Amino acid sequence: MNILLGVTGSIAAYKAADLARRFVRRGWNVKVVMTRAATRFVGEWTFRSLSRNPVYVEMFPENGDWRPDHISLGEWPDVFLIAPCTANVIAKLAHGLADDLLTCTALAVTAPVIVAPAMNDRMWAHPATQANVVLLTSRGVSFVDVGTGDLACGYQAQGRLADLDAIENKVITMAKGETDE
Ligand SMILES: Cc1cc2nc3c(=O)[nH]c(=O)nc-3n(C[C@H](O)[C@H](O)[C@H](O)COP(=O)(O)O)c2cc1C
Repeated sequence: MNILLGVTGSIAAYKAADLARRFVRRGWNVKVVMTRAATRFVGEWTFRSLSRNPVYVEMFPENGDWRPDHISLGEWPDVFLIAPCTANVIAKLAHGLADDLLTCTALAVTAPVIVAPAMNDRMWAHPATQANVVLLTSRGVSFVDVGTGDLACGYQAQGRLADLDAIENKVITMAKGETDE
């Protein structure tokens, strides 16, 4: 099982480190692609150590292969999980934007895509975000429902990253070829 873990610029990015660890413990091959904003929250080296693989951030890496990383990465996984996924990346995915390695890979990926959003409750409830979720769902992207509880902004509300168990179970379900329906 090859799992590509996308990490974006949410305060919940630290939880993705635990996800990487859990996946490795399952004996899965894990690669991590991060947005630049994600690297402000958790260092690349955390994911490099936990995933036991290089971490991918740059679209134009110094010593890149002749084959662009977004194409190689796009063909590699059995599942592409983006957790946590920001409102920004949800919007980019919905509209096909590809201005960084993670979003470019999302356009090139051949595997099923799972998105676990995390954001402030107003960002989550915003009609733009909700419309993007509906659009992506209609295209076959699978979402892990956000949780309710303490948010980094100080509120108790909906928008937290789902429990890691729920995310892990969704990955297992998708990997078995089962859909949400
Ligand atoms: C402390 C802090 C926490 C943030 N947490 C979130 C978050 O949980 N979800 C979200 O959508 N944006 C969050 N943001 C805003 C994103 O980091 C910002 O939109 C950024 O441009 C996202 O980049 P990316 O989507 O390329 O990773 C946060 C910003 C700050 C300063």
